Amino acid sequence: MIVFEHRDFDEHERIVFARDAATGLRAIIAVHSTRLGPAAGGCRMWPYASEEDALADVLRLSRGMTLKNAVAGLDLGGGKAVIIADPKTQKTTELLRAFGRAVDDLGGRYITAEDVGVDVSDMEIVRETTRWVAGLGRGLHASGDPSPVTARGVFEGLKLAVGQRLGLENLEGVKVAVQGLGHVGRNLCRLLHGAGAQLVVSDVDEARVRAVVEEHGASAVPVASIVTADVDVFAPCALGGVLDAEAIETLRATIVAGAANNQLATAEDANRLHRRGILYVPDFALNAGGIINVAREIAGIADPAWVDAKLQGMLANIDVILREAQERGVSPQAIAEEFARRRLAAAQ
Ligand code: NAI
Repeated sequence: MIVFEHRDFDEHERIVFARDAATGLRAIIAVHSTRLGPAAGGCRMWPYASEEDALADVLRLSRGMTLKNAVAGLDLGGGKAVIIADPKTQKTTELLRAFGRAVDDLGGRYITAEDVGVDVSDMEIVRETTRWVAGLGRGLHASGDPSPVTARGVFEGLKLAVGQRLGLENLEGVKVAVQGLGHVGRNLCRLLHGAGAQLVVSDVDEARVRAVVEEHGASAVPVASIVTADVDVFAPCALGGVLDAEAIETLRATIVAGAANNQLATAEDANRLHRRGILYVPDFALNAGGIINVAREIAGIADPAWVDAKLQGMLANIDVILREAQERGVSPQAIAEEFARRRLAAAQ
């Protein structure tokens, strides 16, 4: 397997392949950058089709965390972990403990938390073998499930984009397609429905679709049709890579604003969206609510107002990013990356 010459390798500081035969653990931990502080980012459990897929995912996700933490003004670097396993059938207490030991071996260089396939109760088990874990449900300053805060940030940022692109002050009657109705997607639907938006939704899990249709009067569409739904805003809240050349060509929304990490299939896709006149709010700038929530716990801060203040800072940054992109006629992605690079360079 090629690592240093991998397409997604970006001067990552450390990449650890962790194997524990007794529990079946196969995990990769990527520390992209510790320039701003210990690398923090969630652990994803997913039945990757191959080790190559898992490596590509962790390389991209950890780099995304560096950008996200930098733009959100957190004193944290970027890292991420992936466990190659099906969370529905292969998640065991022993496997999570073995993962905790692998995190512990990094001595605090990487701090883990929840991501897709992993929840607060799993982090409680990971805590048994390492203290370098956050997003806990119990204990001093425990921050719990980060997804409601992520959803709040996405909701507010989406409103900013609607204000800029559609000139609307609220979401009354605005049509939003939400892809993925998990922890974040479902919370986002609740907020959007409360604000009067009309929802179009899809998920591979039909029970989740039914719940959101009943709770929020959403219209359900097949998984393959959500990208082409006739809506104002497309909110990807499932997995990454959804915005590729083909999807961008067929997208009918004029705004893309969602929680999923790594929405762009390639770097060029930001320019493709820009050329099509679609306002894309960079995922790493918009979905930082969860890591902001976790950062409070890591810093040992008790006051929940700290999270609100950081979230306001995140939204102020998004506002500046969108305005600057419009003024300079470039993609918001380019501006957001510049933002992150400036902060990283200053820290050097
Ligand atoms: P989750 O695992 O709770 O939900 C993901 C949902 O997407 C599931 O319901 C799943 O069935 C669905 N899904 C998977 N493939 C799909 C497809 N092809 N079409 C439609 N639905 C599909 O995950 P969570 O926590 O809600 O996260 C969603 C995204 O947001 C992920 O990309 C995650 O990395 C990102 N994110 C989450 C944060 C959080 O606080 N949970 C923070 C920042 C980013």
